[in-house]
Amino acid sequence: MEFVERESGTAMVIGGVDTGKTTLILAVALRLLSRGKMCGLIDSDIGQSVSGAPCMITLTVPDISDGRVSLGEPVTMYFIGSTSPSGHVTKVIQGVGSLCERVRRKGIPFILVDTTGMIQGYEGLELKLKKAELIRPDCIYALQRKDELVSILTYLRKMKGIALEMLPIPDGVVTRSMDERRERREAMFRKHFRDASVFEIMLSSISVDGCSGMLVPNLLVGLKDRDGFALAMGRVVDRDERSLSVLTRLKDLSGVRSIEPGSLLLDSDFREIGRPIS
Ligand SMILES: Nc1ncnc2c1ncn2[C@@H]1O[C@H](COP(=O)(O)OP(=O)(O)OP(=O)(O)O)[C@@H](O)[C@H]1O
Ligand SMILES: [Mg+2]
Repeated sequence: MEFVERESGTAMVIGGVDTGKTTLILAVALRLLSRGKMCGLIDSDIGQSVSGAPCMITLTVPDISDGRVSLGEPVTMYFIGSTSPSGHVTKVIQGVGSLCERVRRKGIPFILVDTTGMIQGYEGLELKLKKAELIRPDCIYALQRKDELVSILTYLRKMKGIALEMLPIPDGVVTRSMDERRERREAMFRKHFRDASVFEIMLSSISVDGCSGMLVPNLLVGLKDRDGFALAMGRVVDRDERSLSVLTRLKDLSGVRSIEPGSLLLDSDFREIGRPIS
């Protein structure tokens, strides 16, 4: 049965960079919504997010507006703190798993998962396979240019209950340079921090997921609730022995239980200026 004709289900898209993954998953969302079927969209593309929050995995519950998919604001976010899954594969898989669990607990019948174009090497293989093992999709849309997905597909074919839909790369696909990708992310950071203000946090009053020595000025951080989901991103402005000044769009930090150091430094205009020295 075609995925959109089902009563419920989970679908994931895989493919290299610039293969039309996001466009496809949004088209599936539109077909579900046109049939009156609710879905949760998990955007695990932490580099080229469609939901406007780079370095985070987000859950949105899309709607239709003027015949198009309208994503709205993310309802739940999971902080990764990097623009690439490389070096963070386990965290990305955990994040996608936790958000899937959220959607299922909310009783939303369909889950759609968008992914990064990281398909190469052992990390690419591990990322896609572990994700599929954890979320058990009913359908995987695979967008392949030549034979770059062969090793991933070999393993996916052995997993029971997954319908693999092989699709060609659409003719109209437009590629984006690394600079365009970075500029797009920086615009999203500026938007996320648009009405942000600086809070002073006593280090004794909060737990740090990692080493507090990592919390250096300009570092991107995640401000997390008691369930480990991100309430917002933060940017460290200053720190001393006992306290931390963090820029965040949150107006009230009472729900923040922990702070997680990311792996990206942003200057005061939210330009990416590198990674912290570890
Ligand atoms: N079927 C299509 N027809 C016309 N244009 C398309 C189609 N699919 C994708 N595009 C265009 O190609 C570009 C890249 O598409 P998209 O963002 O969906 O790819 P992606 O694989 O998600 O990229 P990324 O690797 O950055 O996540 C976009 O500008 C999109 O509008
Ligand atoms: Mg995409």
